[in-house]
Amino acid sequence: MVSSSYSPGLEGVIAAETAISILDTDVEQIVVRGYDLIELAKNLQYTDVAYLVIYGHLPSEKESEEFCRHLAQNSDIPEDLYKLFEMMPKTTVAMDALRTGISFMAGYEDPELLHDNSHEANLRKGLNLLAQIPALSVNAYRALNNMPFVRPNPELGYTENYLYMIRGELPDQLSLDAFDKIHTCYIEHEMPNSTFAARVIASTLADMYGAMAGAVASLKGPLHGGANEAAINFLMDINSSGGPENAESYTMEKLEQRARIMGFGHRVYMRKYDPRAKFLMDYIPRLSNETDDGEALASIYKVVEDVMFREKALYPNTDFPIGLLYHLLGIDVPLYTPIFFAARTAGNVAHILEQHDDNRLFRPRVIYNGERGLVTPQSP
Ligand code: ACO
Repeated sequence: MVSSSYSPGLEGVIAAETAISILDTDVEQIVVRGYDLIELAKNLQYTDVAYLVIYGHLPSEKESEEFCRHLAQNSDIPEDLYKLFEMMPKTTVAMDALRTGISFMAGYEDPELLHDNSHEANLRKGLNLLAQIPALSVNAYRALNNMPFVRPNPELGYTENYLYMIRGELPDQLSLDAFDKIHTCYIEHEMPNSTFAARVIASTLADMYGAMAGAVASLKGPLHGGANEAAINFLMDINSSGGPENAESYTMEKLEQRARIMGFGHRVYMRKYDPRAKFLMDYIPRLSNETDDGEALASIYKVVEDVMFREKALYPNTDFPIGLLYHLLGIDVPLYTPIFFAARTAGNVAHILEQHDDNRLFRPRVIYNGERGLVTPQSP
């Protein structure tokens, strides 16, 4: 059946049926497996929410322990990946290294398992990816920046291990708590471009590694996950060119140039507050004295938020506070989007599982506006 309706960017188009999540803008709620995501973030750890997203129900105490143990025991990546990272040109972008690393890892998968799209096989691959992407993302970045590798410590929990590899030392409780909450807020978000990309790729019955590599490529874009890096760069640019007093005029100048202010606006929430941004901004004052520039950046954040609302009636999306929070947590900017992807792995695994469990190939049509009837030059 061909419908004649066309929506540029597929705006408002229903692309799938899912039991994983929905953005209910009427009540400003992100519903994940029946729960309010913000309530989940407030009350549970990332790993329990990851279990919920993937399995469809919250884990019992025993299931939670087994899940965390599985993630810890499978957190290291193949030795050859460390060598690959050392061979990569130092100009490689961390997100590209992550994408390459995921593709490379497919070669280490049992070939039968790799091409087995059954629920059980996909679950095994998905859990391995969830376990390994933290070590992959951090150590790729470390190699590109001539920093020593920090291998995962299987004695540590998922979040603690991730921050330990990022910082090279065990994190304090406040950092751990903030990082875990951000990770949970990023875990799943209905049908963003990267999830759609993963489902489109999976719909050809391509394997999970291919679908995930495609999702990394999508998430890198500044209109999507790359916005968290662009957002902190914007705040830091203002800080280095006059500080908080300059924030209003700097932002106005950008708007007059019709520039996009990254970290604002959203295809679904466009005129509403992203509930994740609302929840996470409370962490800004709690962390703002963790870095020398924290207070200044927090002031600039507030001015930019006010100007954007006054001038454009736009609210921050979650990337705006998270860009600042990752900076306050001492994380290097090129790691922001790879970390976002690691957090979203649970959601993407769940979507690939759902796609393969009840697959129909994505293959839309077009409105053709090119020429027709041209005469092919005859060969002499
Ligand atoms: N800065 C300035 N103006 C904006 C912004 C922004 N960040 N976002 C939207 N607008 C304006 C547009 O200029 C447009 O105005 P106009 O009608 O006067 O031309 C209007 O709002 C609608 O924008 P569209 O681009 O048509 O809306 P779309 O749904 O395609 O865009 C998007 C959504 C891409 C997220 C957009 O808001 C944007 O570019 N934001 C900045 C990037 C960003 O933060 N991305 C992260 C999204 S959340 C995530 O992926 C985790």
